[in-house]
Amino acid sequence: MKQEALISIQIMGQVYEVPENLTVMKAVEYAGYQYVRGCGCRGGICGACGTFYRMPGDYQLLSGLACQTVIQAGMMIMQLPYVPVNRQVYDLDALNGNGAPVSSSTLHESVRSLFPEIFKCVGCATCTRTCPMGIDVMDYVALIGRGELEKAAETSFSCVMCGLCAIRCPAQISQHTAAMYVRRLSGRFLIPRSAHLRHRVEEIRSGKYDDSLARLKGMGKEEATRLYAAREREPDLAEPGEWKPK
Ligand code: FES
Repeated sequence: MKQEALISIQIMGQVYEVPENLTVMKAVEYAGYQYVRGCGCRGGICGACGTFYRMPGDYQLLSGLACQTVIQAGMMIMQLPYVPVNRQVYDLDALNGNGAPVSSSTLHESVRSLFPEIFKCVGCATCTRTCPMGIDVMDYVALIGRGELEKAAETSFSCVMCGLCAIRCPAQISQHTAAMYVRRLSGRFLIPRSAHLRHRVEEIRSGKYDDSLARLKGMGKEEATRLYAAREREPDLAEPGEWKPK
């Protein structure tokens, strides 16, 4: 088996020799650390693994997801176990307690009262440059500010809630949690309800799948593995002409 060349990196101030081509997450583990926090899906989805690093001779503080960022020789890495954020508590039902439609100005006002810091954006675009998902964070902050909530929800849709934007924001904005609130508003009050989803929820509530679920729960590992391998799959999104992730 081919032996990978070793490169030198720093993890929280300590120098380690690790095989090249590893992700930051794997390099940290290779160096002997065990993730207790700051690691989840390992696939760029959960946003738990925010990491900061600097390259020798470069003044910039760079960031990324540890499970997606490949190490480079000389990298100085600082792993984040946790990101403290402005996590507001809210009740969407309270916005239309009597079931009446909610006006866009009411929705906008609710964002303003929960996340007033959004309106202090200084337009520096640090958030956009920091986002590991390539989202134009500053743009959706501006959309929220203007009350274009549905568009802001769409623009922020692939956010994985890593919080790196909020950590670096000089205006102390918690962009990702504000955007999560806006996506919830959009799903609840702005975009059309999905008829398919409503139908499926009704089916589940009526007990249509109770027997299948009971059978799955009582299944042995082998049978469950066979069933999983033979499952119906989503079409390959990478087919020509199909939608591809950015
Ligand atoms: S561990 Fe989930 S995004 Fe990296």
